[in-house]
Amino acid sequence: MDNIDTELLRTLPKAELHLHLEGTLEPELMFALAQRNGMPLPYDSVDALRSAYEFGNLQDFLNLYYQGAAVLQTEQDFYDLTLAYLERCARDGVVHVEPFFDPQTHTARAVTMATQFRGILRALADGKERWGITSCLILSFLRHLSEEDAVVTLQQALPWREHFVAVGLDSSEKGNPPEKFQRVFDQARALGLKAVAHAGEEGPADYIAQALDLLKVVRIDHGVRCSDDPVLVQRLIDQQTPLTVCPLSNTRLKVFSDMSEHNIMQLLERGMRVTINSDDPAYFGGYLLDNYLAVRDALGMTREQAVQLARNSLTSSFLDGDSLNNHLARLEQLAQSS
Ligand code: ADE
Ligand code: ZN
Repeated sequence: MDNIDTELLRTLPKAELHLHLEGTLEPELMFALAQRNGMPLPYDSVDALRSAYEFGNLQDFLNLYYQGAAVLQTEQDFYDLTLAYLERCARDGVVHVEPFFDPQTHTARAVTMATQFRGILRALADGKERWGITSCLILSFLRHLSEEDAVVTLQQALPWREHFVAVGLDSSEKGNPPEKFQRVFDQARALGLKAVAHAGEEGPADYIAQALDLLKVVRIDHGVRCSDDPVLVQRLIDQQTPLTVCPLSNTRLKVFSDMSEHNIMQLLERGMRVTINSDDPAYFGGYLLDNYLAVRDALGMTREQAVQLARNSLTSSFLDGDSLNNHLARLEQLAQSS
């Protein structure tokens, strides 16, 4: 079977369900914000910074990612960051986004929750108006910090309760199992928030089961290590739990040594509800469409498989009603056109 062509892939309506806003900070914007805020950066140039983006594992990346995020100081900085990402989405045929942000990365530097929410929400509203991109924001807890810190963060976010739909869990996975955050996830769900969590990126398959059983997540972020446990694989297929897989991230962080080794198409063919996402595109060499193309080029992707992946992204999103049905109808129409 032939691979899908690039322009059709671009046109398919797609949702992005695993994207860290701080991970969209391109080196050029990082330098511009550092200058605007009078902050020195430990690199001489954009090129020098970009050439530091060689990672042996997740922690190598996180060290640079938190350092980079320190240039985000003002409401306008969060606005500029978010709007630049949405502009990329518009070009790539992304019709709906569910971005994460990490409030603790910023409150730890005395950048208030209000500053973060105001900038991000204003950009999401402008993205809807300019490009019709719908969004659901996800507040993510840093798992290398304590559960008490996450509880305080949830409290600080309560004035914006109407403006985010879910909580997430990210940062250093190994040694920080989902069970560490059971109480704060209970509290979040009691507030009517949905739950998602990074699990099975570098950490073991057991963390995926913990996220499902203890945190009651409705999606698993990454989840690719599920392959180590055939019983878990069958459970994910039976329950149709979405996995938000990030192929370029996984190869840049050495979860897989090469894209040709990635298991995403095997999981798709087994009937798992997998989706393609970009995670931290400014650091991993590509936005959403680039991730689809990298998978297609390394593993092959027919039109049917591409449509299934795009369909999975829409049906795994927090959209419902007309907004979901309209995107799906457009997708099916394109799927049938010659
Ligand atoms: N924060 C940003 N990107 C992440 C990733 N891929 N895994 C864990 N935490 C992250
Ligand atoms: Zn992530």
